[in-house]
Amino acid sequence: MSTQAALARPSEVHASTRKLLSPYRLGDLELANRMVMAPMTRSRALPHGVPNPIAATYYSQRADAGLIVTEGVQISRQGIGYSRTPGIHSQEQVAAWRRIVDEVHATGGKIFLQLWHVGRISHPVFLDGELPVAPSAINDGGEVFTATGMQKRVTPRALDAAEIPGIVEDFRKAAMNAKAAGFDGVELHGANGYLLDQFTRDGSNTRTDQYGGSISNRAQFPLEVTKAVIDVFGANRVGYRISPTAAFNGMEDSNPLATFSYLTEQLSQLGIVYLHVVDPITGDNRVSPQLRKKFRGTFIVNGGFDLAKAEAAIEAGDTDLVAFGAPFIANPDLPKRFALRSKLNAPDQATFYQGEEKGFTDYPALA
Ligand SMILES: Cc1cc2nc3c(=O)[nH]c(=O)nc-3n(C[C@H](O)[C@H](O)[C@H](O)COP(=O)(O)O)c2cc1C
Repeated sequence: MSTQAALARPSEVHASTRKLLSPYRLGDLELANRMVMAPMTRSRALPHGVPNPIAATYYSQRADAGLIVTEGVQISRQGIGYSRTPGIHSQEQVAAWRRIVDEVHATGGKIFLQLWHVGRISHPVFLDGELPVAPSAINDGGEVFTATGMQKRVTPRALDAAEIPGIVEDFRKAAMNAKAAGFDGVELHGANGYLLDQFTRDGSNTRTDQYGGSISNRAQFPLEVTKAVIDVFGANRVGYRISPTAAFNGMEDSNPLATFSYLTEQLSQLGIVYLHVVDPITGDNRVSPQLRKKFRGTFIVNGGFDLAKAEAAIEAGDTDLVAFGAPFIANPDLPKRFALRSKLNAPDQATFYQGEEKGFTDYPALA
């Protein structure tokens, strides 16, 4: 049912939405439209990082998106940093994801899993008392929400170079598990100040070995992880997410354009199917136009887009697809609402990270 024709009679579809709602070929996958549901943590998982069964309803309600990217999903026990976030490193988790993926597929959707290791953005409470790991022992200075309230984050332990192949293997195994659960592909979470991003940017990576220093050394670990995941899924089922200018989680880099141009070129050479760039439409130093020129595959932009801005970005050739975050939380039928130029439901921030069904599966679709 996920075609423009099924969403509305052609005469009802406003001319300016025709491109955003037109089908798109992503590698060997046919997407019903060019709208991506952005990855969003919803903190509703069950104990032991098992995804909540109601996530099957949540994601399948949104299966009219051309592509769904799941919330960030931990690749290992070491990768966790937030309460009630799901994992993909135990058989119980894989079985629960399988039911969610089956329901999305049965509803006509396509779904990639976002592979996530938070690195330093964790706390010993999540790690059986162990310190979080990071490229370098630098505390981002933030706070973490735990079962007993907000706590200051601790200074992480710098990873020994000899430990790094083990984390690459954790990513590989997580990708194998995602494949076993039936996902159409995976997105590497290289954005927003988590482990891959911590290695990439020089504000969080001050290593002096082969994983630090030059831009190419800082990109080494992210590229090793990408290759491992490509081994599992094939390059045409692997995407990578970056947020080159985001300061979230205490991130900075002395030259974001140079750093992310290099990473983009290398990812392009590896032939991954898409690059997903968080580059808010309202920002003054947007880098996505330059990065687009360096990437051969499908380009996705995200950050504050609405219907008009998304359509304009596609028309101008600035991007192939547009990802929507908060609008997809509040509007399970966002493509249909765009097609009909209907009013949108407003997202309720109070239930972004808590609330079981409330704020999750109870946003109304159009009659
Ligand atoms: C509730 C919430 C949870 C999020 N969790 C993730 C996440 O797990 N992984 C990720 O890459 N980005 C995450 N983000 C960022 C979104 O993917 C997106 O970049 C952001 O919402 C901006 O897009 P928008 O303006 O369309 O909402 C989250 C955003 C929200 C609102």
